[in-house]
Amino acid sequence: MALDHSLGQQTVAISGMSALEAIRSRRNVRQYAAQPIAADDLDQILEAGRRSPSSRNTQPWDFVAVTDRDLLRRLAAVWAGGRHVANSAATIALLTAADQAGHGRVQFDLGQAAMSIMLAAASLGIGSCHSAVGDEELARELLGYPADRSCELLISLGYPAGRPLAHIGRPDRRPFDEIVHRERW
Ligand SMILES: Cc1cc2nc3c(=O)[nH]c(=O)nc-3n(C[C@H](O)[C@H](O)[C@H](O)COP(=O)(O)O)c2cc1C
Repeated sequence: MALDHSLGQQTVAISGMSALEAIRSRRNVRQYAAQPIAADDLDQILEAGRRSPSSRNTQPWDFVAVTDRDLLRRLAAVWAGGRHVANSAATIALLTAADQAGHGRVQFDLGQAAMSIMLAAASLGIGSCHSAVGDEELARELLGYPADRSCELLISLGYPAGRPLAHIGRPDRRPFDEIVHRERW
């Protein structure tokens, strides 16, 4: 798949794997190689988030992209299950309006943006992992976003340490025939 990325007048084509290949090879990666993510690749990943669909096209998101090592280390403390953020090459914080954050529609839209981001990353061979946000005040202090915004999710990114992304033959998922119903339940 060639991801077309338009930045103003400039169009950059980046070759990656197909969408289906990205879906089949994506997994949550929590150990990252030291290799940085090229700025253009990070922009492609952010652009995938920007292009995500949303209810009534409200686009209820802002993204804060962090690559500074010291900031990543401190950001890792916002959630006990977010330690992988510390050694990521980059982490994208997904924010929304604080007074809208509890709405199911907004959470659905953020989930779609998250998946677009993660699949774009996978298509470039870059691993990713979610982290919830427990200490919102620490996240706000570190990222500097205003009081009317809420940080709902962190997505860490980086080239996998040791095991590159590759087709997963037997994913840890419920059986296909158990969850797929045809015509009727
Ligand atoms: C809404 C949501 C929140 C998550 N939060 C965390 C988290 O805080 N820390 C973490 O390590 N993984 C987190 N995950 C990742 C899940 O644990 C992961 O998607 C699941 O175990 C499947 O992993 P796999 O795709 O590698 O099979 C989260 C996933 C989702 C969808």
